[in-house]
Amino acid sequence: MLKAFIVLGLVSALAGVGAGADLLHRMPIYKWENSVKSRKNVMSEVAHLRGKYNVATTATSDIISGEPLANSMNMYYYGQITIGTPGVIFIVMFDTGSANLWVPSYNCTSTACLSHTQYNPNQSTTFVPNGSDITLKYGTGGMSGYLAMDTVTVNNLVILNQTFGVAVSELDNHFDNVAFDGILGMGFANLAEDSVTPPFYNMYNEALISQPVFSFYLSIDGTTSMGGELILGGSDPNYYIGNMTYVPISRDDYWQFDMSEAVLNGVTLCSNCQAIADTGTSLIMAPIDAYTKLYSTLDINPDASVDCSTVSSMPVLKFVIGGTVFGIPPSYYVLYLDGECVVGIQTMGTDFWILGDIFIGQYYTEFDVGNNRIGFASVSGAQYTNQANSQFASFTTIFSLFALLNIILKLY
Ligand SMILES: *[C@@H]1O[C@H](CO)[C@@H](O)[C@H](O)[C@H]1NC(C)=O
Ligand SMILES: *[C@@H]1O[C@H](CO)[C@@H](O)[C@H](O)[C@H]1NC(C)=O
Ligand SMILES: *[C@@H]1O[C@H](CO)[C@@H](O)[C@H](O)[C@H]1NC(C)=O
Ligand SMILES: *[C@@H]1O[C@H](CO)[C@@H](O)[C@H](O)[C@H]1NC(C)=O
Ligand SMILES: *[C@@H]1O[C@H](CO)[C@@H](O)[C@H](O)[C@H]1NC(C)=O
Repeated sequence: MLKAFIVLGLVSALAGVGAGADLLHRMPIYKWENSVKSRKNVMSEVAHLRGKYNVATTATSDIISGEPLANSMNMYYYGQITIGTPGVIFIVMFDTGSANLWVPSYNCTSTACLSHTQYNPNQSTTFVPNGSDITLKYGTGGMSGYLAMDTVTVNNLVILNQTFGVAVSELDNHFDNVAFDGILGMGFANLAEDSVTPPFYNMYNEALISQPVFSFYLSIDGTTSMGGELILGGSDPNYYIGNMTYVPISRDDYWQFDMSEAVLNGVTLCSNCQAIADTGTSLIMAPIDAYTKLYSTLDINPDASVDCSTVSSMPVLKFVIGGTVFGIPPSYYVLYLDGECVVGIQTMGTDFWILGDIFIGQYYTEFDVGNNRIGFASVSGAQYTNQANSQFASFTTIFSLFALLNIILKLY
C-alpha cells in the first residue's frame, strides 16, 4: 500500500499541476437532512462517531444509552455509482473519514440490507471472488461480510477490478431509513480495512483521471435534488473565492492536518491543534479542553439548547489553518432543530478536532492525494469568508501588549 502511495506521489509530481477545467469529472451529489431533528439526534451522531473513530465510551454516551440511534445520521451527502456488468445502481455516502467501499449483499437479511439495493455476484459477468472476509465498525454496530472484485463506475469513469466489501450482516448501524445503500470511503489507503485499494486510487492508477486530486463543494442549502458536486481530478475555481490555502497532511490515514489555533471571542480554545476533515460527519467535534472553554466562553450549558433569539449575537468561531483564518458564524454552528437551537459542536474526548459538513459546506475543500495536502477556500457566495491571518495577528498583538501592560501594572 505504501508502495502504491509512493508511486502515486511520484507520478503526480512528474505530471505537475495545471489540469484544465475540461479534465475535471463532475459528479452531482445530493444532500439529505433529517426533518425532525432534536438534541437526541445530535447526541446519536456523537455515539455513531465514537464507533467510527473507535473512541471508548464515556459518560456522555451513557446519557443516551437506551435512546434509539435511528436518527444518528443528521445530514449527509450521497451520490450514485454502479457495480457489476450490467451495472446496478447503488447510492453511496461519500466519506473522507473511512477508506473502504461496501454495499449490502443479496443474501443479507438485516433490516438495513433489505431496505436497500443488494449486490448479487451471480448477476454480474465481471464478478471475481476474493475469498477474504471483512468487518467494519460503525457506531455501536458495523457490517461484516466478504470481499468481492467487480467493475465499479463512478460518474462514467469505469474502474476495472475494484475490490469492495459485500455486507452479509449490518448490525445496529441504524442505517435502515437512510437514503444510501453503502459507503464509499475516500480516506487514505492506509486507513482501508484488509488493505484494499480504495476506488479513488484505482481511478488514478487506471488513468481515468489526470490528477490524484478530488474536491467537494457541499451546498449548505442543498436538497435531495441538488446538494453539490464531487469533483474528480482537481478542483473548480468557479466554486470558490481567491486562492486555496494548503496545509500538509500530518498523518495519512484520515485527512488530518495541523491547525495552528481555534479561537472564539478572543479566547484561544487550543493552539497547535490537530484536525480531520470528514465529509461523513455533519457536526464539528472538539477536543475536551477546547469544548469546555468554548461553552464557558459562550456562557451556555453544553447539555441544553440555547435561546434562538441570542444566536445572531454569538461570536464567530475561528480556525487558523495554514496562516488563514476560517470563520464559522453562529448561524452555521448552531443547528435549528425542531423548534430548538443546539450548538453543533460536540466532543467525544479525542485530542483532534473533526471538521464535518458544517465546516466543509462553507469552505470548498480540495483533497490532494498526490501532494499529500489539503486545501480550503471560501465557497462562492459565502456569507462569511476566510481572511488572511495578518489582521487577526494584529488583534493578537494588541491583546498580548494589553496582557503585558497588565503584568507591568500588576508589578508596580
Ligand atoms: C451469503 O453469501 C456468501 C457468499 O456466497 C456466503 O459466504 C454466506 O455464508 C451467505 N450468508 C448467508 C446468511 O446466507
Ligand atoms: C449464486 O450462485 C451460487 C453458486 O455459484 C449458488 O449457490 C447460489 O444459490 C446463487 N444465488 C443466487 C441468488 O442466484
Ligand atoms: C483486471 O483483472 C483481470 C483478471 O481478473 C486482468 O486480466 C486485467 O488486466 C485487470 N485489469 C486491470 C485494469 O487491472
Ligand atoms: C483479496 O483482496 C485483497 C485486498 O485487495 C488482496 O490483497 C488479496 O490478494 C485478494 N485475494 C484474492 C484471492 O484475490
Ligand atoms: C492567488 O495566487 C496567485 C499566484 O500565486 C497570485 O498572483 C494572486 O494574487 C493570488 N490571488 C489572491 C486573491 O490572493
